[in-house]
Amino acid sequence: MDIILRAEGISKTYISGQVKVSALKKCDVEIEKGEFTAIVGKSGSGKSTLLRILGTIDKPDEGKVYIADKEIENLKSAELAKFRRTQIGFVYQDYSLIPEYTAYENIILPLVLDGKDADVDEVMELMESLRIEYCRDKFPEQMSGGEQQRVAIARALIAHPAVIFADEPTGNLDAASAETVAKMLSFAASKYKQTIVMVTHDRQMAEYADRILTIVDGTVTGGVGI
Ligand SMILES: Nc1ncnc2c1ncn2[C@@H]1O[C@H](COP(=O)(O)OP(=O)(O)OP(=O)(O)O)[C@@H](O)[C@H]1O
Ligand SMILES: [Mg+2]
Repeated sequence: MDIILRAEGISKTYISGQVKVSALKKCDVEIEKGEFTAIVGKSGSGKSTLLRILGTIDKPDEGKVYIADKEIENLKSAELAKFRRTQIGFVYQDYSLIPEYTAYENIILPLVLDGKDADVDEVMELMESLRIEYCRDKFPEQMSGGEQQRVAIARALIAHPAVIFADEPTGNLDAASAETVAKMLSFAASKYKQTIVMVTHDRQMAEYADRILTIVDGTVTGGVGI
């Protein structure tokens, strides 16, 4: 087995005022290269926290994260920034598009940051497959939630990163668009050996995954192979 992503004993506690929330409690996760994993669980169970830590966007209080056998904690900040830019695509639950940039400019951002030229035809093809080509010159505030969500998905896919983390990528989409996204992610894993880790509430979306991890109250309980 070629393990691309490994988290050991991950714990995370949030403190706001007097209140402490144990969002994650000693979680262990292993993900194989090219695998499409879905993470499911109730609202507040710790899914986004786990995804952010696996995606190196947030740090655990305890535990270690390894990506392709590199321990994240040991990377210097410049190395980590380059690693994130080139190896990781992240679809945030709130999309996190840049308001001053058009849809097109948001999508090509990972390439621009890495000093690469965008292939206009490839970007337009990706936008067409997500049915957002008509949003090309629109700014985020001029787009619907579902359109912004698909722009965020295109931005995560454009640079063909080794690992794509997607937090509820279909939360705002109609059934047909959600199916398109699920198929695109599944195709990225099977055809291009990209590794996909997706949080979802939607049982039907989870069916597209190779494996479902369930998280209950901050603990990863089950890795069901389907
Ligand atoms: N920045 C924060 N400060 C304080 N508490 C937080 C913070 N972020 C998350 N939490 C708490 O940690 C727990 C886990 O949150 P998380 O966002 O990981 O849940 P989730 O499973 O993604 O939920 P949802 O399905 O609603 O997106 C929740 O109880 C939440 O209230
Ligand atoms: Mg969440």
